[in-house]
This record gives sequence, structure tokens and C-alpha cells, in this order.
Amino acid sequence: MHFNIAVLPGDGIGPEISVQGVDVMNAVCEKFGHTASFNYGIVGADAIDRVGDPFPPETLKLCKESDAVLFSAVGDPKYDNDPKAKVRPEQGLLAMRKKLGLFANIRPVETFDCLLDKSPLKAEIVKGVDFVCIRELTGGMYFGEKYEDDDRAYDTNHYTRKEVERILRVAYDYALRRRRHLTVVDKANVLASSRLWRKVAQELEKEYPDVTTDYMYVDNAAMRMIQDPGFFDVMVTENTFGDILTDEGSVISGSMGLLPSASTGESTPVFEPIHGSWPQAKGLNIANPLAQILSVAMLFEYFNCTKEGAIIRKAVNASLDAGVTTPDIMGTNGKKYGTNDVGAWIVDFIRNY
Ligand code: IPM
Ligand code: MN
Repeated sequence: MHFNIAVLPGDGIGPEISVQGVDVMNAVCEKFGHTASFNYGIVGADAIDRVGDPFPPETLKLCKESDAVLFSAVGDPKYDNDPKAKVRPEQGLLAMRKKLGLFANIRPVETFDCLLDKSPLKAEIVKGVDFVCIRELTGGMYFGEKYEDDDRAYDTNHYTRKEVERILRVAYDYALRRRRHLTVVDKANVLASSRLWRKVAQELEKEYPDVTTDYMYVDNAAMRMIQDPGFFDVMVTENTFGDILTDEGSVISGSMGLLPSASTGESTPVFEPIHGSWPQAKGLNIANPLAQILSVAMLFEYFNCTKEGAIIRKAVNASLDAGVTTPDIMGTNGKKYGTNDVGAWIVDFIRNY
């Protein structure tokens, strides 16, 4: 098939890892007789600097006209400590999610056997952990009514039945394809919005008798993820809780640089690493490209190209086993590898497979 891909490298380490993702996609396409065209768009601080808008209309148009978006990262420290900044790079990401209707964010938390000792948790707790967090991405406090003056500020955690139901259905579909265990994470003992989530989930639960549904308060879920992450199969939660829990989940594997994600919904799907733009590492060729490369695997899998996804996963595992890793997970063979060395090794593996 032909893939028409919008590439949004963004800020910080974004451009460096983006190149690796594109190279891997090209290698897989060649191997399997596909073709791909890549069209580049600007987003984040890069887009603010150039045109004053973190998600300009041309970028939206490019995304809408593409089959998928390969996104890297946004964020720049010059905005972080300035509460008065009128426009921020992160708004580009949020605008993209909202304008493309990407309400479902799929964040798999997987562990790699050869990296068990890199996890901050004990190896025996982490071994075999494999769950997916389905994060609602276009509602809740991120997009609810806001107010801000010097004495008072609020964000509204707004959800409608429709928004809750559609994300729960995505989660149930995942659960059906996996170990058939869904955990609905909320704070229904305190929040009205959570009580709506729980009510809708309790209704839907009856339509999915093959799935075991349980309900967990978010504070308890945060604890359980550390004590017994193997408990989870599919977890579904609102936007803000999902943001927090997936950062927690991502380090279980030993490095934030390993985990990809997919955002899907009404328009073009977006594939991106979970990690941010790590501005301090920009241009140093030390960023881990694996999350970006694995997001290409998720892209292929989205289009039912399972063999294509599998070869990328195989190549990534082989690179880890061979100790060909960036410094964040410093491999076993004592040599130093840059972002581009890891990418090139994976491309070679795929070509020669
Ligand atoms: C994420 C990020 C974003 C979020 C930021 C950059 C706006 O942390 O994708 O998890 O909060 O959703
Ligand atoms: Mn986050």
C-alpha cells in the first residue's frame, strides 16, 4: 500500500528521533513492497518562532490530507518559567488533538526482559508486565472552561455521556483482544465527573460479559502500578489521570525513551513517543529513538500491517539484546551508541532480515 505521512518533528530532540522513525518506516516499506511519501509540517515552539502559532492552519491541512501523522515532541524551556506567556508550544499538541478529534490515546506499558534491572522497581515485580492505558484525550480539565486572574483560577473537569461512552468502547475493544480485564480508573468518591464515568461504565459492562470489569480510585491505581503492575491488562481513564498515570507507567520499563503511543479518533491518527522534547539533550545525539521507532510499529499495526509492525519490534528487541543502546539504558557491551547509531542498526537489521 501507499502511505501518505505527515511528519511533525517539533522541538528539542524531536527532529533527531523523527529522522530515525522515517528511516525505519522507509526500510520496512521497501521490505514489504509498500511506498511512503513524507511531508513535513511545523508545530510547537518551532512553529511559534516561525509563524507565531504552535499549530498553524497549514499544519492542520497537511495532517488532514495524510493517512497518518508521525509526531515527535514539543516544548521549550523558554516558555516553562513564564506564566505570562500568551502562547505555548504545548498548545500546538492540544490543538492538534482537538482539531483532529483524537479522543483515544493508546499507551502500552511493556517491559523488556533484558532491561529488567534498569527499572526503578524490583525485577520480580516488573517481569512480564504488559498493559495498555487508554487515556481520554480531548475532554476533561484540559479543555473545560478555564478562568485565571491574579487571585483566582479554575479549570473545569467537564465530561459528557457521549465522550465517556466512546472511550469506554475503545477500551472494551482492546480488552476483548487481550486478557479481557478492564480497570476503570476514577475518583468517584469525590468527583461528579468521575461518578458519570462510573455510571456509564456500569451500564456498558453488561454489554461485555466476556470482560471482567473492575473499578479503582486513581490514588489506589497509582499505588497498585508500583506494587503490582502485573495486575493490569487494560486501564481506561480520563485525560488528566491518564497523563499522570502514563508517566508513572512509562518508567516501569526502565526508561521513558522506550514507549510509543497512538492517538486515534475522528480524523487522521497520530503516532508519537510518550516522552517529551528533552531540550537539554537537543543536538547531542544521545536521545533514545526507540519510542519513536516503536510508534512506527504502532502506525503499521493500525493499518493492519501486523508483519510490518512485528519486524520493527523484533529489530528493537534485537538491538537491546545486542546492547546497542543510547546512554539512558546503557547496553551491556560497553560501547557508546548515538541516536543515529541505534536507528541505523535497526534499519540494517530490517534490511537483512
Ligand atoms: C503528554 C504530554 C502533554 C499532555 C503535554 C505536552 C501537553 O505531557 O502527551 O502526556 O499533558 O497531554
Ligand atoms: Mn504527559
